[in-house]
Amino acid sequence: MPTVLIVGATGNIGTSAIYAALRSKLHVLAIVRNQASAEKLFGNVGTREGITTVEADIMSDRGVKDVVEKVRKGELPAFQHVYSADAYQATIPYLLEQNDPTSTWTLCTGASGDNGSRPAASMTQGALYSLANVACIDNADTNIRFNEVYLGLFVMAGTAAEQYGVMKASEFAIIYEKILARPDIIGCRVKVCQPEDLTELRFTKKLE
Ligand SMILES: NC(=O)c1ccc[n+]([C@@H]2O[C@H](COP(=O)([O-])OP(=O)(O)OC[C@H]3O[C@@H](n4cnc5c(N)ncnc54)[C@H](OP(=O)(O)O)[C@@H]3O)[C@@H](O)[C@H]2O)c1
Repeated sequence: MPTVLIVGATGNIGTSAIYAALRSKLHVLAIVRNQASAEKLFGNVGTREGITTVEADIMSDRGVKDVVEKVRKGELPAFQHVYSADAYQATIPYLLEQNDPTSTWTLCTGASGDNGSRPAASMTQGALYSLANVACIDNADTNIRFNEVYLGLFVMAGTAAEQYGVMKASEFAIIYEKILARPDIIGCRVKVCQPEDLTELRFTKKLE
């Protein structure tokens, strides 16, 4: 069954990606920090169906690479799609090897990198914007449809969204659902800066 590897799967954006994958009838291979994180994930999305979890420290050199090795050995489900804020180098070689023509790789960046609204988060965004630019060009002639989701809203998982009056992970999921379903979205920055952007996908091609 087509599968999405989700890195940071218990987080706000990872939870949203899980909703999108399940609604798109895709299996989920979720990287979690530990079993407590896995339980948090199941609680967030309200199901265990269609989700395989694997424990890894995504900050360590070998963390995601070891997960990919387990996939290569058949110990975990093969995946065709990746949703992550990092783990690019650890996962791209595998997708290229598989050469599945439907493969996608999706990166979520934050508009705070441009507007400086959250100092700690802002500092890391410049590197992610650059990664997205390079990856769009690098993958233009490969089997991988790379896209960046540029997010200018707060998205939260679980009950926190209602508590803080921000967008729910389950609502934001429509963006990834649309990206998965639309082969014409390739090498793009998809902007989500106002609620209306959930209805009409707003994107610019980086490849033109
Ligand atoms: N949420 C937003 O509104 C928003 C807006 C713009 C951009 N973004 C960008 O989207 C990305 C994700 O944001 P987020 O809000 O989803 O962050 P988050 O809620 O803090 O999620 C981070 C995820 O990474 C996992 N993680 C962190 N260190 C780990 C480790 N060493 N080993 C294994 N797992 C680890 C966390 O696991 P645990 O649950 O176990 O800690 C969690 O699943 C960031 O780059 C952020 O800048 C988010």
